[in-house]
Amino acid sequence: MKIGMLTSGGDCQGLNATMRGVAKALYNKLGRNIEIYGILDGYKGLIDGNFKKLRSRDFSGILTRGGTILGTSRKPFKKMTVIEEDGIDKVKAMKENYKKMELDCLVILGGNGTHKTANLLSQEGLNIVTLPKTIDNDLWGTDITFGFNSALDVATDVIDRIHTTATSHGRIFVIEIMGHKAGWLTLYSGVAGGADIILLPEIPYDIKKITEEIDSRTKEGKGFSIIAVAEGAVSVEESKMTKKEFKAHRAVMPQPSIAYRVADEIASATNHEVRVVVPGHIQRGGAPNAYDRVLSTRFGAGAAELILNKQYGNMAGMQNGRVVPVPLEEVAGKLKNVPADDEVILTARNIGISFGD
Ligand code: F6P
Repeated sequence: MKIGMLTSGGDCQGLNATMRGVAKALYNKLGRNIEIYGILDGYKGLIDGNFKKLRSRDFSGILTRGGTILGTSRKPFKKMTVIEEDGIDKVKAMKENYKKMELDCLVILGGNGTHKTANLLSQEGLNIVTLPKTIDNDLWGTDITFGFNSALDVATDVIDRIHTTATSHGRIFVIEIMGHKAGWLTLYSGVAGGADIILLPEIPYDIKKITEEIDSRTKEGKGFSIIAVAEGAVSVEESKMTKKEFKAHRAVMPQPSIAYRVADEIASATNHEVRVVVPGHIQRGGAPNAYDRVLSTRFGAGAAELILNKQYGNMAGMQNGRVVPVPLEEVAGKLKNVPADDEVILTARNIGISFGD
C-alpha cells in the first residue's frame, strides 16, 4: 500500500504527532507492505510534484516537535479551480501527481480551507482521508481539533502573566487572542485566565457596555481589568454592515488590529491607563501539550484505521469522546462557531464575565 501525506494551512502544535500516529499504526499493521510519501509545503507540493519517500525513522522523535516536518503553505480554495498567470491547471496537476506516486490514499491534515480542497479532490475521484488541525477549533464535524488545547495553554499563560502586571499597576490590559472567525480560543483562555471581559466574533460588542463594566469594577475597588479580545471581534455597528462595507471600514481603521482599537476606545472614554498585548503566532508555536499528544495519536491511529478499511472520503473526527469517520462533504465549507448558549459562555455569564453585549 502506498499513501501520501501533506499538511496545509497554518501550522500548529500536534501536526507531527498526528502524522506519527498515522505512520506508526500503518507500519505496525502492514510492516514492509506500506510506503509513505511526504508531500512538501501543502497543496503546493502536490501541484508542483514536490514529494519524498519517508522511512519509519522519519517519524521517530517527532511526537513533541512543533510545526510540521513536511512544511506547509496557504492556497486559497477560491483559486484552486482558476487557471492563473502561471497557466497551471492545479486540480489536474494534483491528480496527475497522485497518479505518478501511485497512491492508494492521500492523508491531508488541515483546517477549514484545507478541507474544501480535500473534498474537491475526493469528488474528483482521489482516495482521501483527512485530520482536523487548527488552534481555532472551528472545524465542523469534530468536537475538538488538535492544536487547540496547546494553544489554549499558551494563551492562558499570557493572560496569567499579564494579570500580575495589571494588578500591580492598576491598569487595563487588552489581550488579543487568535481566531478570526470563531472565538473558542478566546473564550476558553479568557475563562481559564480569569479575564473580566471577553470579546468574541460571535457576540458583537458595544463599547459603552465595556466601559460601564470597567467603571463598575473601579467602584468596587478593582483598579485593573483584563479584556481578552478575539482577532475577529466586531462591534455592534460593524455586525450590521455588508461584507463589502465592513472591508472598506476596516481598511481605513487607523489601529493595526482590533485590540488596539478597543484600547483606544477605552482610553478615550475612561481615565485608565490601557495597554495592549498581542501574543500572535506564539500561540501556535512549540511543542504540543500532553493532551494534544494523546489526541493527535488517537486521531492518527483513527485515520490509519479508515485507510485500512478503505473508508475514504472521510475526516477522522472526535464525537462524544470517540474517533469517528465524518464525510468530507459534511465538513467542507462549514464553520463551527461558538453558539450563544454554549455552556462555557453561560458559565462565564453566571460568574459575571462581560461579553460587551
Ligand atoms: O487558523 C489559524 C490561525 O492561527 C488563526 O487563528 C489566525 O487568524 C490565522 O491562522 C493567522 O494566519 P497566518 O499564520 O497566515 O498569519
